[in-house]
Amino acid sequence: MRSFSAFLFAVLITASRSTSWASVTIPLTKLEHTGPYLQGSPHADRARASFLKTTSDPKTIPATNLVYIQYTTSVGVGSPPTYYNLVIDTGSSNTFVGTGKKYVRTSTSVPTGQNVTVTYGTGFFSGIEYYDTVTLAPGFVITNQSIGDALKFASFDGVDGIIGVGPVDLTQGKLFPDTGALTPTIMDNALKQGLIKQQIVGISFAPATTSNDTNGAITYGGIDPAFYTGDITYTPITKTSRSSLYWGINVTEATYGTHTVIPQSTAGIVDSGTTLVLIADDFFSRYLEAIPGAYLDVDNTGLIVIPPSSIAGMQPFNFTINGRAFTMDTAAQLIPLDENAIWGIETGVQYGVITKLGADSGRGSDFILGQKFMEKYYVVFDTDQSRVGFAYTNHTFSAYLP
Ligand SMILES: *[C@@H]1O[C@H](CO)[C@@H](O)[C@H](O)[C@H]1NC(C)=O
Ligand SMILES: *[C@@H]1O[C@H](CO)[C@@H](O)[C@H](O)[C@H]1NC(C)=O
Ligand SMILES: *[C@@H]1O[C@H](CO)[C@@H](O)[C@H](O)[C@H]1NC(C)=O
Ligand SMILES: *[C@@H]1O[C@H](CO)[C@@H](O)[C@H](O)[C@H]1NC(C)=O
Ligand SMILES: *[C@@H]1O[C@H](CO)[C@@H](O)[C@H](O)[C@H]1NC(C)=O
Ligand SMILES: *[C@@H]1O[C@H](CO)[C@@H](O)[C@H](O)[C@H]1NC(C)=O
Repeated sequence: MRSFSAFLFAVLITASRSTSWASVTIPLTKLEHTGPYLQGSPHADRARASFLKTTSDPKTIPATNLVYIQYTTSVGVGSPPTYYNLVIDTGSSNTFVGTGKKYVRTSTSVPTGQNVTVTYGTGFFSGIEYYDTVTLAPGFVITNQSIGDALKFASFDGVDGIIGVGPVDLTQGKLFPDTGALTPTIMDNALKQGLIKQQIVGISFAPATTSNDTNGAITYGGIDPAFYTGDITYTPITKTSRSSLYWGINVTEATYGTHTVIPQSTAGIVDSGTTLVLIADDFFSRYLEAIPGAYLDVDNTGLIVIPPSSIAGMQPFNFTINGRAFTMDTAAQLIPLDENAIWGIETGVQYGVITKLGADSGRGSDFILGQKFMEKYYVVFDTDQSRVGFAYTNHTFSAYLP
């Protein structure tokens, strides 16, 4: 479990007490790097088809669920490009390589004269900032993109870096000596260079069936109707700080069965770089109390543990967003038992994916809808209209098979 969003970092360092979050370790080092670019995915054909269209149409690229806790996509840097598996992070905005496969400089790699340091909810990197050519897909190439070469880093086992698709303002304060400068993001440059017409990212994640499952897709420059059903429900970026700095939204309430978990409109963020679903500690207490025998494994994993006898009685966890219920059904709330070994958690114990944030509500940053929420819905990150959209998918509901 990890959180690449600096949001969680901010919540935790300003919270009056620390949490067990930081103690969670996942044994990722045994994994090799992935390279499933446009391979092995039901979405790959659609992605290939989209490359045949004219430029500035939205481009859909496969995304890989790697060891259940993160989504990566293959990004080329340099000319000829070297391909890196980068974590797709809507909770940060710098893009960098070098934490796994080292940065391979080519004639297009030009130092910017800046150093860069970014601290995340889990881990950090620091290094040298370059301008380089970035290939998101064949024929979909950004020139003069500012990227980091990570020289020092922590907590990037098994991946080569991050592609940051959060708001550009999050890049402020990351460079040295130009501490006030912003670093234009991949999406900023794609728009400026005419590769896309709309600054919109559409993301399709799904529950993984293997520890290396190319079952996701990211669309640059628009939405891809192949990946959702029905209508998209949009909600504006929240005006409540600190969520407003991110892909922050208000949910108007959340319920677990008949229990109210979030009683009033509350701001938080949608973050693909956070594995779990985190809710403020007072909200989490209500959820925990509603499941007989459930407890928080504070000392080891920081995860909720649910007794087998309580699973059949579990209820849907519903977040209400702009009047519509976005449900996490029982299966969506649980870590499948056959994944425990790869998560590095005790086998035979039923853990859940909703946990506590590490601070009580009322801080303007009271939840993170992470990867485990996003696996159930199609999510649209729309910079142009300052809004986030959610749609149901074919895998929004699932049968639980313990
Ligand atoms: C993931 O799968 C792809 C092909 O499906 C393979 O090339 C790659 O080595 C795999 N990566 C890991 C970490 O198993
Ligand atoms: C930038 O980082 C490099 C490599 O760590 C270091 O040698 C250099 O002193 C740094 N420059 C500044 C201005 O901090
Ligand atoms: C690259 O982009 C930077 C701003 O991000 C700009 O200052 C520089 O002139 C650009 N270089 C080229 C070759 O376009
Ligand atoms: C969802 O299901 C419908 C009906 O079975 C099918 O036509 C559509 O292709 C499916 N969508 C995806 C993304 O699998
Ligand atoms: C969003 O939630 C915050 C509390 O986190 C609240 O102060 C604010 O009024 C809410 N905004 C809307 C539009 O309901
Ligand atoms: C939660 O959502 C599910 C599925 O959409 C729905 O059947 C249920 O009535 C909702 N529960 C509440 C309390 O709104």
